[in-house]
Amino acid sequence: MNAGRRSLSPAECLKEPAPGQLLFIILKRSEHLKEKRPMNNKADLRYIENHLPKTDDPYLSMMSKEEITKARLFHRSFPQYQETPLADLKMLAKHLGVARIAVKDESWRFGLNSFKVLGGAYSMARFLAQETRTPFEKVTYQYLISEEFRKKLGSATFISATDGNHGRGVAWTARELGQRCIILMPKGTTKARFDNIKALGAEVTIEELNYDECVRKAASLSDQYEHGVIVQDTSWEGYEDIPAWIMQGYGVMADEAAEQFGEKPSHIFVQAGVGAMAGAVTGYFSALYPEDPPKILVVEPNRADCMFRGAEKGDGSRVIVTGEMDSIMAGLSCGEPCELGWDLFKNHAFGFLSGEDSITCRGMRMLAGNFKEDPHVVSGESGAAGFGAFASIMLEDALLDVREKIGLGPGSRVLCFSTEGDTDPVRYKEIVWEGKTYH
Ligand SMILES: Cc1ncc(COP(=O)(O)O)c(C=O)c1O
Repeated sequence: MNAGRRSLSPAECLKEPAPGQLLFIILKRSEHLKEKRPMNNKADLRYIENHLPKTDDPYLSMMSKEEITKARLFHRSFPQYQETPLADLKMLAKHLGVARIAVKDESWRFGLNSFKVLGGAYSMARFLAQETRTPFEKVTYQYLISEEFRKKLGSATFISATDGNHGRGVAWTARELGQRCIILMPKGTTKARFDNIKALGAEVTIEELNYDECVRKAASLSDQYEHGVIVQDTSWEGYEDIPAWIMQGYGVMADEAAEQFGEKPSHIFVQAGVGAMAGAVTGYFSALYPEDPPKILVVEPNRADCMFRGAEKGDGSRVIVTGEMDSIMAGLSCGEPCELGWDLFKNHAFGFLSGEDSITCRGMRMLAGNFKEDPHVVSGESGAAGFGAFASIMLEDALLDVREKIGLGPGSRVLCFSTEGDTDPVRYKEIVWEGKTYH
């Protein structure tokens, strides 16, 4: 092989070039970009840096390693618990011009195809402990299904309003713990998502109501049952414990990823709906590396980009997006930021990205059809948004300024979270197999 023609390794790219090397490097870089010319060279992603006013950061401590370890120990007590894989995409990193890119693959979580159960299950366990005044150190899966605990509690009813992944996690946990579960789904919910929850033994209905109205109905229902509780990841006055526990449960995904990544990521791309999951990731990594945290980029669909618009508004108040949020990123189509996540973003996010559906379509296809040497990841519409945004920033000439502002380059070690697999298998095939793109 002619050593002068080979691609530069990331380590070589980091080194200062010798004088005679400079021209060669410039040529190599432009050659690289030409090869990477995207199919659709249009910037369908907007970026804003975080200049929101800081608060006194009341939620950071709840995402400390110590707190998240409690959640991880609880999850570990389930016989089905396994860490989900971290796909290290070495060839892709080389191709995109960064030192490392790794994707946490949540399609393997408890056989449920998404990370969501981590939050539901942990909050339900904490609720049961609180209801029965049991010290949480004692609470394991085995304990919660024991005769001793049943006698103490009687039975509980878990109620949730959800359009899919969250409800599946709540229904699964209720079934595993032998408790009752009622799920209200908003109008427009697909049959596949309804069937998935029904199959777990929950009482499910598709209501003639939108998501927010379903939440209100679920909250009113919970008063009708002994040990009845609504399991929702958005907080409101007097309802903060469950959302906080849900975020701590999500923290387990971040904790596993931090361990598997084995070094400090320089950049984390994480998608947001209400921002509980991205808030958990932001809080966890900011608490883990308080001196010099990774740059955290929060990614949203442009039809439901409440964090992005909040950052644009700039005074620290929340912006609520209303109307039709008809993005294919169903799990991210939420117009109202959760208080806890929003506060963590204000203090610790590096910036916000708002993208068209085509961003996630690209992410899904690239993760599925990756280089043969790299692991392949089945990532659904809401799962691939963070990675899709990162890949677009590296591929699109029109996004070069964003690449520079974020400081992405040959030394970057990038972590993304693929938070779901093919939860809508029909649409997944349409996008990945048939090449359909949404905008
Ligand atoms: C697959 C997937 N990823 C990400 C999210 C976003 O989580 P959050 O609403 O906490 O921001 C969701 C929410 O439902 C989801 O289903």
